[in-house]
Amino acid sequence: MALTNLQVRDVETVLHPYTNQATVRETGTLILESGKGIHVTDVDGKSYIEGMSGLWCASLGYGNQELAETAYEQMKKLSFTHLFGGKSHDPAIELAEKLKEKAPVPISKVFFTSSGSEANDSQVKMIWYMNNALGRPQKKKIISRIKGYHGVTVASASLTGLPANHIDFDLPISGILHTSCPHYYRFGKDGETEEEFSSRMAQDLEDMILREGPDTVAAFIAEPVMGAGGVLVPPKDYFPKIMAVCNKYDVFMISDEVICGFGRLGEWFGSPALGYKPHSISIAKALTSAYMPVGAIMIPEDMYQATIVESKKVGTFGHGFTYSGHPVGAAVALKTLEIYEREKIIEKAAAKSPQFQAHLKALGDHPLVGEARGLGMVGAIEVVADKKTKKAFDPKSAVGARAVKIAEEEGLIVRAMGDSIGICPPLIITPEETDDLFDRLSRALDKTLDWATKEKLLGA
Ligand SMILES: Cc1ncc(COP(=O)(O)O)c(C=O)c1O
Repeated sequence: MALTNLQVRDVETVLHPYTNQATVRETGTLILESGKGIHVTDVDGKSYIEGMSGLWCASLGYGNQELAETAYEQMKKLSFTHLFGGKSHDPAIELAEKLKEKAPVPISKVFFTSSGSEANDSQVKMIWYMNNALGRPQKKKIISRIKGYHGVTVASASLTGLPANHIDFDLPISGILHTSCPHYYRFGKDGETEEEFSSRMAQDLEDMILREGPDTVAAFIAEPVMGAGGVLVPPKDYFPKIMAVCNKYDVFMISDEVICGFGRLGEWFGSPALGYKPHSISIAKALTSAYMPVGAIMIPEDMYQATIVESKKVGTFGHGFTYSGHPVGAAVALKTLEIYEREKIIEKAAAKSPQFQAHLKALGDHPLVGEARGLGMVGAIEVVADKKTKKAFDPKSAVGARAVKIAEEEGLIVRAMGDSIGICPPLIITPEETDDLFDRLSRALDKTLDWATKEKLLGA
């Protein structure tokens, strides 16, 4: 189909993030115009269920009047001031206090960023900085995981364990290593129990630490549930075993809760839902329900003490963004947290998740679906060429992308991560809307199956 005038203007002017720059010139983009509740509407007036909350972020859905008014009022009152060199403002102070109160582990200070990538980049710098302050400059390596996602800035993209973020970007940088991925369906061995698998994952981490030298390994970073890697939920023994290894070798544990924070797994934070206690935490996305770009790292006392040591030595703590703690972003984040508390959004998300997960698991019976997996209010289905052997489709057939396109025709936005299709609706979704979402997804899968059968893509 020929591109509309707006689509042509779009591809001629905007370099789209995370987009195949060759094919988008032919397919054009889906141009959205408005949103209300869990729905968004495109420029032609077609409505969609936003089944991904945008990019795992719009937890309160669209068109929230209270958040819009909060931004407007703060813009009128004090549109900008910063936190550099002895300045501060009330929204940042209150937000930091609130986050400390909610944190699942003891937190000394909150450092604000504008995104998840900046948060994880700051984590890397803080680890290096802290270990210099502690007089152990050789303890700098950071271990992440294959298929982990931590963002796209230079250090964050290095932490990310996905080939597309490294190839020809000359990444990862040195000193960042990737250990094995706890996806039992794909990487579990024949006859291996989930517990044995978890032990093997922990052993892989320990072997890597010993190979590199424990005195050179500073930190381990992990998402509670891996998001962009395909919504990979580790077995229940995984994190306790991993934490035992981190603690044994004095490896600082960073929990990247950019997706899993603020109710996605049915609790305020993802780490307690997965049974571990990190040393520091990265947050973003649902912190403002994506009404403003705000991220943060929440750091422990010993990391904070390092900034005092270094400030005395260097004369300042030389890190910070213009928009660290932007007052409009901070005010909106505070209001978002107030709404989560007042409306019991997180408790309600926990109560809604059995219905969501039951729908998801039911899709596991579909002939195209190899695995349906999830936790809380996030999940994915992995489409496969052969259910029995778990044989994947040839990536060139782009079956996941095709299913997502067909879902779009059904009025549902979901996201393909290879052949895993992610579902992460706004937490305000009602039970009826959840039924509707899965009806649409189920129809899309049937149509994808018809197409894949016609194209002779199925079979062992
Ligand atoms: C777990 C995780 N960490 C970090 C990021 C990067 O956040 P941003 O895109 O805001 O830089 C993302 C983004 O999806 C994420 O899912």
